[in-house]
Amino acid sequence: MVEAERMRVSVIGTGYLGATTAACLAELGFEVIGLDVDEAKIDLLRSGKVPFYEPGLDELLTESLQTGRLHFTTDFAEVAEFADLHLICVGTPQRDESGAADLKYVNAAIDSLAPHLTRPTVVVGRSTVPVGTAATLAARLAALAPIGEEAELGWSPEFLREGFGVEDTLRPNRIVIGTDSPRVEKAVRALWQQQVDEGVPFLVTDLQTAELVKVSANAFLATKISFINAMAEVSEVAGADVIQLAEALSYDDRIGGKFLGPGLGFGGGCLPKDIRAFMARADELGVEPALSFLREVDAINQRRRARTTDIARQLIGGNFAGRTVTVLGAAFKPNSDDIRDSPALDVASTIASLGAHVTVYDPAALERAREAHPELNYATSMLDAARGADVVLLLTEWAEFREANPEELATVVAQKRIVDGRNALDPTYWRASGWTYRALGRQ
Ligand code: UDX
Repeated sequence: MVEAERMRVSVIGTGYLGATTAACLAELGFEVIGLDVDEAKIDLLRSGKVPFYEPGLDELLTESLQTGRLHFTTDFAEVAEFADLHLICVGTPQRDESGAADLKYVNAAIDSLAPHLTRPTVVVGRSTVPVGTAATLAARLAALAPIGEEAELGWSPEFLREGFGVEDTLRPNRIVIGTDSPRVEKAVRALWQQQVDEGVPFLVTDLQTAELVKVSANAFLATKISFINAMAEVSEVAGADVIQLAEALSYDDRIGGKFLGPGLGFGGGCLPKDIRAFMARADELGVEPALSFLREVDAINQRRRARTTDIARQLIGGNFAGRTVTVLGAAFKPNSDDIRDSPALDVASTIASLGAHVTVYDPAALERAREAHPELNYATSMLDAARGADVVLLLTEWAEFREANPEELATVVAQKRIVDGRNALDPTYWRASGWTYRALGRQ
């Protein structure tokens, strides 16, 4: 390996995780090459365009390209020649109904890279994988690389949140590296030296523990959200208010207020798929009962979607057929154009399947939504979407919707009825403007 400060790094896979990682490492001063098998994506990145919505990443990419420290390729031979440290950042989507993770992209990355490794090299996986995967990949890497066991593999999970990817990469709350190789540890320490100097905890574990850190963190977060949503279910029938309940719980710092926001529940490319893959892996390992609570976490989450649909149906008199419905939000959360497992689109398409004319508006995710759900109608502003609505549903809490003016919205709808699926609005304010306001977990 060359000296740390001159370390050249490759990032394999330039999706959300890889593109963010590549631009951030170039910003930190490393020489970085990003690789993807998708030529179109590489062309976009080369021209300084980020193929998804991520605040701050465009600027960082442009800057890094201008410094000459960041470039892109589709050629594994070039990557192997250029870098001493390779970071695997490809996706691990849900395979099928079993919920297990599909490892074809991680396997392909190792299979394509390994035959070009002719000098001692460190490969570090960052993708989220089922526990046990890294050990198998390490053996596969050494078997396929001409340099043999001098091609070493470690696993270092990431914890990026979409919408905060740059911040979470440059200022992570911890760095975990699974390895028993001093060379791998040294390379990863060098990569994050600045962060470690700033006090970011650096944990060295075995491969299995590193893999588990990521999935158990996401399982915990999903559980916390479903916990408060279960309390919302109880509150609805018991006559309580889940917002006040969550606030009261949050002052106990053992519980804390983060990820205790009741509403339509979690979606996105990580939490839903990661808990399912974790259950599938536990099943394979023969410890299925240990994670059976996650089945309930998933079920609570799905029930919130059904409940939101029910509340809207009640509000319009029991039948969606022929009614006009407005859905505010398509992304799985605000400040993202990601619609993977989006609760908002799931509810919108259910309501459309029940016979309503559904119009969706989202500040960033319209194009993706249109492609995935051609059965829905789309508008390019909140007011246009709400024209003639019998009921409006707020399903992704973009600032634009939180700050909506109930009086202005009232001028375009047919009926002043709103379902606040994210507990994002002030009920008193909306009711004072003549709206019938309903929310999850509240009276
Ligand atoms: C998540 C993890 O936070 C991150 O650490 C991991 O690396 C990837 O998965 P992300 O998918 O970007 O990140 O979204 P996150 O901000 O965690 O939100 C997930 C979902 O939970 C969203 O649909 C959000 O609306 C929902 N959520 C979040 C709630 O319903 N209530 C809350 O209180 C918080």
